[in-house]
Amino acid sequence: MSIRPIEFDRGVLRMLDQRLLPNQEVWLEYRDYREVAEAIRTMVVRGAPAIGVAAALGAALGALQMTAEDFASFSEEFEEVCAVLGATRPTAVNLFWALDRMRRIVAAHGDEPLAQIRQRLLDEALAIAAEDEQINRTLGAWGAPLIADGSRVLTHCNAGALATGGYGTALGVVRAAVEAGKQIMVYADETRPFLQGSRLTAWELQRDGIPVTLICDNMAGALMSQGLIDCVIVGADRIAANGDVANKIGTYTVAVLAREHNLPFYVAAPTSTIDPNIPHGGLIPIEERETREVTHCGDVAVAPEGVAVRNPAFDVTPARLVSAIITERGVARADYPAALAALLKKER
Ligand code: MRU
Repeated sequence: MSIRPIEFDRGVLRMLDQRLLPNQEVWLEYRDYREVAEAIRTMVVRGAPAIGVAAALGAALGALQMTAEDFASFSEEFEEVCAVLGATRPTAVNLFWALDRMRRIVAAHGDEPLAQIRQRLLDEALAIAAEDEQINRTLGAWGAPLIADGSRVLTHCNAGALATGGYGTALGVVRAAVEAGKQIMVYADETRPFLQGSRLTAWELQRDGIPVTLICDNMAGALMSQGLIDCVIVGADRIAANGDVANKIGTYTVAVLAREHNLPFYVAAPTSTIDPNIPHGGLIPIEERETREVTHCGDVAVAPEGVAVRNPAFDVTPARLVSAIITERGVARADYPAALAALLKKER
């Protein structure tokens, strides 16, 4: 059983502190939505689907904390809760998707007692959490046939169980292929500067007994040129309507390398990561994080003080470099605008 990084029990949200992995497994407890927002911002929890799940549960906690006594003030206060949670990380659209689902619950039940609306919000958040793992298992089943037995699969960042409600997206495809009896070896890019690949992907695959080999980001090209990689699978933080994919910084570089070496480049993501309101990737907001992530490794400086630094957390891979987008509703290939629109229309 792969790890689930988010738990909720009797009014308490528990999240595995992913900043401390792989050295310490510490679970933090949350009762206040503002603290949940801070946990998302500081990356206690990260990965697009997991951010959505945490935000939904945070919003449910917020509703429990609110003191409103009539629906008008309840709905106003709930908007404020959603605004605080929504201001944490701009790129992963699952955050806004989850908060919209929560807002719709309030909008649809204005004639009910507030206690009942609070309960409905909690139920919706728990449903978002439970559905996410199921979605990943279904997505994995769609993706597994694309991975040949014996494949050496390169992944970037962590799109695993830790980044979701459970099982993972890119690593969900790997898990499903392994469960189907295939021998798979994962090459994990370390993923500077936050090291999601070395700290998280390597940790969760090792924990599940799936063969994993860690490489520095700048080694992928050499391995591809030596014929040591068969395909690439990554997750996504937001997919534009035309199939452009925002994902962890460095993903674009890997996609360009994959094209040069004629290797399939797959993206695995739930349909909640597709943003039909963003026509192309150039319009996806890209988070710029603090420079210390680049100048320091833990507490140790690895750059001269005062040096100019850029730290965009995500990049955009153009749809033309993407071989297929694997979702829980099926596999989309070019022509992406039509294929993604069709997936979004499909019944769940
Ligand atoms: O900054 P992070 O760690 O939240 O970035 C995570 C990624 O880029 C993942 O690849 C993406 O969210 C997909 S997770 C299933």
